[in-house]
Amino acid sequence: MSFKVHALFFVLSLLHMKLAFGLDSNVKDANNNINRCIEREKQAILQIQQSIHFSSLTIPKRDEDCCKWKEVQCDNQTGHVIALDLHKKPLPFVVPSYEAGTINDSLIELQYLEHLDLSLNYLSHIPEFLASLTNLRHLNLSRTNISDTVPFQLGNLVKLEYLDLSGNSFAKIENLKWVSNLSSLEYLDLSMINLSKFDDWLETTNSLNKLSTLKLGGCDLPSPTLSPSLSPSNSFKYLSILKDLDVHGNRFNASVFQWLFSHNTSTDSLLYLNISYNQLYGLIPEAIGSMKFLERLDLSYNRLEGEIPKSFGSLCSLKMLYLIGNKLSGQLGFLEMLSRCGHDDQDSSAPRLKDLDLRFNKLNGTLPESIGNLPELESLYLGRNMFAGVISEAHFSQLSKLTSLDLSSNSLVLNFSSDWSPPFQLDAISLSSCKWGSHFPDWIQTQTNYSELDISNASISGTLPSWFWKGLSSKSCRVNLAHNQINGSLEDYPSLKFASNPELNLSWNHLEGSIPSFLSGFTSLDLSNNKFSGSISLLCGATSLSFVDLSNNRLSGELPKCDNPIPLGSLVILDLANNNFSGTLFPAWIGTMINIQALQLRNNNFTGQVPHTLKNCRKLQVLDVGENELSGPIPEWIGTSFEDLIVLSLRSNHFNGGIPLQLCNLSRLQIFDLSANNISGAIPNCINNLNALSEKGNTNETISISYTSGVGSLTTYATIFDPEASMNWKGNVYEYNSSLLGKVKNIDLSDNKLNGEIPREISKLVGLVSLNLSWNRLIGQIPLDIGNLESLQTLDLSNNQLNGSIPKSVSKIPRLYPMNLSNNSLWGEIPTGPQLDTFDGEVYQGNPGLCGYPLENSCSPSNPPPSTTASDGNEVVDMDCFYLSMALGYSVGLSAVFVTLLLNTSWRRSYFNFLSNVNDWIYVKVAINKAKLCELFKTLTNNGNQSALPRQGRLPS
Ligand SMILES: *[C@@H]1O[C@H](CO)[C@@H](O)[C@H](O)[C@H]1NC(C)=O
Ligand SMILES: *[C@@H]1O[C@H](CO)[C@@H](O)[C@H](O)[C@H]1NC(C)=O
Ligand SMILES: *[C@@H]1O[C@H](CO)[C@@H](O)[C@H](O)[C@H]1NC(C)=O
Ligand SMILES: *[C@@H]1O[C@H](CO)[C@@H](O)[C@H](O)[C@H]1NC(C)=O
Repeated sequence: MSFKVHALFFVLSLLHMKLAFGLDSNVKDANNNINRCIEREKQAILQIQQSIHFSSLTIPKRDEDCCKWKEVQCDNQTGHVIALDLHKKPLPFVVPSYEAGTINDSLIELQYLEHLDLSLNYLSHIPEFLASLTNLRHLNLSRTNISDTVPFQLGNLVKLEYLDLSGNSFAKIENLKWVSNLSSLEYLDLSMINLSKFDDWLETTNSLNKLSTLKLGGCDLPSPTLSPSLSPSNSFKYLSILKDLDVHGNRFNASVFQWLFSHNTSTDSLLYLNISYNQLYGLIPEAIGSMKFLERLDLSYNRLEGEIPKSFGSLCSLKMLYLIGNKLSGQLGFLEMLSRCGHDDQDSSAPRLKDLDLRFNKLNGTLPESIGNLPELESLYLGRNMFAGVISEAHFSQLSKLTSLDLSSNSLVLNFSSDWSPPFQLDAISLSSCKWGSHFPDWIQTQTNYSELDISNASISGTLPSWFWKGLSSKSCRVNLAHNQINGSLEDYPSLKFASNPELNLSWNHLEGSIPSFLSGFTSLDLSNNKFSGSISLLCGATSLSFVDLSNNRLSGELPKCDNPIPLGSLVILDLANNNFSGTLFPAWIGTMINIQALQLRNNNFTGQVPHTLKNCRKLQVLDVGENELSGPIPEWIGTSFEDLIVLSLRSNHFNGGIPLQLCNLSRLQIFDLSANNISGAIPNCINNLNALSEKGNTNETISISYTSGVGSLTTYATIFDPEASMNWKGNVYEYNSSLLGKVKNIDLSDNKLNGEIPREISKLVGLVSLNLSWNRLIGQIPLDIGNLESLQTLDLSNNQLNGSIPKSVSKIPRLYPMNLSNNSLWGEIPTGPQLDTFDGEVYQGNPGLCGYPLENSCSPSNPPPSTTASDGNEVVDMDCFYLSMALGYSVGLSAVFVTLLLNTSWRRSYFNFLSNVNDWIYVKVAINKAKLCELFKTLTNNGNQSALPRQGRLPS
């Protein structure tokens, strides 16, 4: 009898558990009358629902019985509510803007509650009374925006088997001891809560003998220290049953392995181990190879080095191996053995490896053909290593399930027979910088369903086959063929339609002819650095184009007069620089680009005035219309319409009139270039209002430009940087340290007709790196406290009518080089200082009144101040300095700009953050090609002062 009772009880409790954990499957029994819900509990649920702003309960029609609601589970016998599941669905990108809800205290009515899930509601606070629900076994409060203290009273919930507080990055935990009370815990997730101050976190978990899942990702935990009080035989019993350990994003070093292997029977049970984004260094322990049930291992983004242990070859259960971003070297010896799983050893099954990601390491040697014997392999990422040798069909012999292949940026030669028919259908193909045969690879034709294709920089020559365009499936999102030798012209395929707004990069090839209109179906189009000619009527068909770079081609004609409505509202970046466009900037055309953030029209032949409709482009961050034939006054509204403007270049046009005071409002401006125009009047005193220039150091390293593409909402970071950051000048290496825009802060007003004095306020622009006011008609003295400009690296005030002596404060500028004060009417003693003493006499020449080092004429008390009459028409010109400053303006004004799209696929698997649907990010790096300038300088400086060079006019590009 007693046995029967026990057996019944056992069965009942099993059912009980099934209920508690099986909420998703609808297990309601409509005829079951026993579990009529209790009115008080029903009212409590309704109040809880309201207080947490839970939208609506799933109430079956005409059913008053709350036990039948989808969110509720009642006990079969007593009718008490035992489970309440009010979790919300994750909504990516949505930041709660509404007020936080609360957990209503009527929750106490539900004393029999065993399962409570309020995850993803916006709650911000865990009430202490929650701790009185002592029957709770399952508690999920993950991602509820808790910003308050987590009550230590939760330690009363001793029956808890499952506790998830993850994703509450603002939650405060003052004390972690309470966790050690929860000795029934099987599942513990505190990911993304800052636990950095808990050095004893390891001891806290020591009593959790039933733990099988431990997730402490992104907690900033210190590395485990095995204190002597923890005897290895008694401690961390859970290590022998632990299945899932996720400790990514902490400060763990190799001591984590000591802990993992401290228990004698330890870690045999582990199926999933994630220690990515920590500070692991040294070799990967061989012992990991003895975790024979391990299915997923992630040690990415550490500083591990040496070879991948041979012992990994016995991980026959392994499905996923991520070792991205370490310093691993050597060969992939373990693959040979792994591929033999199930052959030699009767106990093990065939190799199950599905995902292998070893990118961003220093792995070398050849790729073993045994890779082809991993029949389950779906993604193979080996890009950015130092592999060499030939890849042949044998490497892929059995890879029929392969969908992602990345062999990019190694020294691999791809050698497939021309009629190769691969066993796979790839989704993502990344073979950039692999060496191909000379023409476009035929086997790509067999791949009919890819979404990404990157075969840039792969020495492909010849024309693009027509099957290539037709083969672009509606899935094709990204196609990158940049940096090849593809030639010929592109046919038009007017009937080709793209469903997904894809991206195309054909830059740096030898393509010619006109741009076919079907390309307007792309969202992002980079055709820069080719030989395309003709007009750009394709922009008229562009309803989805966001990113357009057509710079450095031979395009000509006027901007197209599209029929209304002109569809340029989607444009975010438009770069037409270095072409032969002419005509005016149509007001109607310009005015429709309401989302444009970077407009680059440099070095064309545009004429007329800047249209007033440009005012509509309120999001502009980069406006570069330099080196055209534009004229008229500088519009005042430039200063009031573009709050976000960072780069303004009007250089080398025919702008006239004064500098509008409104330009001083541009508080984010970092590059201000009005050089080589006919601008007159004085430099405005308000110039010190340019906030970004009056702050030292990096204010904003990146211009962030976001646009929407077919793949979702993308954020694009345009970083202006200069890969060749040093320049030769007069035999000395002149380091232009400003490799990031954050440090490039320049004013270039040279070669105009500015008069009046240099405003004293200019010395408040302490962030300024380069100041060029040369070739104007400036009078008066150099501001006395110019030495406050401590960030200054180049200063050119030459060829003006400045008088007075050189302020002593100049010697305070530590990195000033070069400087040019030649051809003014300066007089008196040249100040000295460590930096100034490195200059030679040319810096000062054409100022007859100057004396002292480095000039020949030493100062004597009898040196009379010279007459202040300006020496107009100076004959002696320091052309080096002139061209240097010109070129500085030239380069920072984004002249020979090329834009590289780095398609960063690693974000696809960005498990580091908790946003579930973050799509890929694109990094757009805008680099300034300075190599040509360096060459120009070398020729200039070698030839000495070449007065044959034109004083005004364009530099060759
Ligand atoms: C309890 O309820 C579940 C689902 O409503 C049902 O499948 C099960 O048979 C019931 N058990 C008892 C003992 O009534
Ligand atoms: C691979 O790298 C290791 C260590 O950097 C080096 O000793 C070895 O010679 C390299 N092997 C090959 C085949 O290049
Ligand atoms: C620029 O345009 C003007 C006027 O349309 C024309 O006279 C001149 O030849 C053009 N220059 C170039 C370099 O195309
Ligand atoms: C830097 O950029 C951010 C975002 O674009 C902006 O909010 C901030 O004001 C900028 N800071 C400066 C100093 O320009």
